[in-house]
Amino acid sequence: MSEQMRFNLFTMNSVEHVSPGSWTYPGDQSHRYTDREYWTEVARTAERGGFDAVFFADVRGIYDVYGDDRETAVEKAVQTPANDPQLVVPAMAEVTDDLGFAVTRSTTYTHPYQLAREFSTLDHLTDGRVALNVVTSYLESAAANLGLDERMDKETRYDRAAEFLDVCYALWEDSWEDDAVEVDREAGRYTDPEKVHAVDHEGEHFSVPGPHGCEPSPQRTPVIYQAGSSDYGRDFAARNAEAVFASQPTEEGVVEYMEDVKARAADAGRDPESLRFFIGVVPVVGETEAIAEAKYDSYKENVDVEATLALLSGFLDMDLSELDPDQKVEHIETDAIQGTMNAFTSSQPDREWTVREVAEFSGLGTTSPKIVGTPEQVVDELEYWFHEVGVDGFNVKEVVRPDSLQDFVDLVVPELRERDLIREPDGYEGDTLRENTTGGGPRLPADHPARR
Ligand SMILES: Cc1cc2nc3c(=O)[nH]c(=O)nc-3n(C[C@H](O)[C@H](O)[C@H](O)COP(=O)(O)O)c2cc1C
Repeated sequence: MSEQMRFNLFTMNSVEHVSPGSWTYPGDQSHRYTDREYWTEVARTAERGGFDAVFFADVRGIYDVYGDDRETAVEKAVQTPANDPQLVVPAMAEVTDDLGFAVTRSTTYTHPYQLAREFSTLDHLTDGRVALNVVTSYLESAAANLGLDERMDKETRYDRAAEFLDVCYALWEDSWEDDAVEVDREAGRYTDPEKVHAVDHEGEHFSVPGPHGCEPSPQRTPVIYQAGSSDYGRDFAARNAEAVFASQPTEEGVVEYMEDVKARAADAGRDPESLRFFIGVVPVVGETEAIAEAKYDSYKENVDVEATLALLSGFLDMDLSELDPDQKVEHIETDAIQGTMNAFTSSQPDREWTVREVAEFSGLGTTSPKIVGTPEQVVDELEYWFHEVGVDGFNVKEVVRPDSLQDFVDLVVPELRERDLIREPDGYEGDTLRENTTGGGPRLPADHPARR
């Protein structure tokens, strides 16, 4: 476990991320997501708060499962419109020194050679401050947009993802030796060709001879994030992830998830304690309890239930418009996001949720716990998750943008610093995101499958 808590801002390069309807809240600035200065302000604020990273979610399709139609999603800005996340990273890196940037990319709709090149470039441009959040994508509409007749089933997606990362690891870790680049002007030799190697990958899904087209970047492999909760997803996280995102809303669910993924990591030959576990939280803070409660009530009133159902229908690949709002949610195995399903069924076997209750709860940050109170109360609860439950960090989900982030940094972070639970802005441990998040060196540890 880490000595201090880790924080990421979990956001999206779009109007809405996971609090549908909040763009209508008075003063909300979400519509500025197209504005470079919006993102550079976010980066400065997150670094002032000592955050590890700004973590961008991403999807490639429209939420059209609800009512078998895209109308609700488009009208209500349910993760649409959304711009590409990785392209704002260099602007944010320019105004910060230590903050990291985690970018979600799907292994289902891109090619490993292309992705390896993009992340090597980002790692160079950020001086080693980039992470890759590996997802396999859940929206059928994305599959159609990217040239497939239908979404691949989950097993095939994870199988492809495993091979995808193996190709990337070979390109990032094995293709160029550390001292391959010489820049010897007199000899006219930029690179020693003997020290650049083909990867010669021939697999089921990809054929990539290599070598990698980029010289080694500070971290070589970006920090690997992952959030899978199905059986396949857990194995994938255990083998590959350095930071794992647990989406269970209850303590028991998080503990079960962490123990299970750690056991699988040990089976895969890794030190299970080297994995960092993050949970999502939705902090709602006020100078007094009454202010915080009033803010929370006004946020809840502002939740757009229909938009939330459209979002959840995409997460679950289940048309919630067909269900009676007072009907109990029954557990299913979904080909979309299993963690969202489990959150309201198997993770809480003693509680029954109706469709309406799920929508009302999920309208503010989906499955994550809401932490409402004064800075002291919020930090008490974070401390509980950190010290008692054993998580390493938190993905902070905003409701109102950028006020939720600013409230957190201006009100909660001073209390965290008072208790020595978060770094000072000049207290980042290393130069790279990997050093700051894992406490290790800038490169992947020797027991990671990519190094073996
Ligand atoms: C908290 C959380 C955040 C996620 N963020 C994204 C995302 O931004 N984009 C995406 O395509 N998938 C995202 N996913 C999907 C997963 O990474 C994974 O691909 C999907 O959940 C299917 O695998 P699973 O059933 O093993 O969880 C997210 C999942 C969770 C639980």
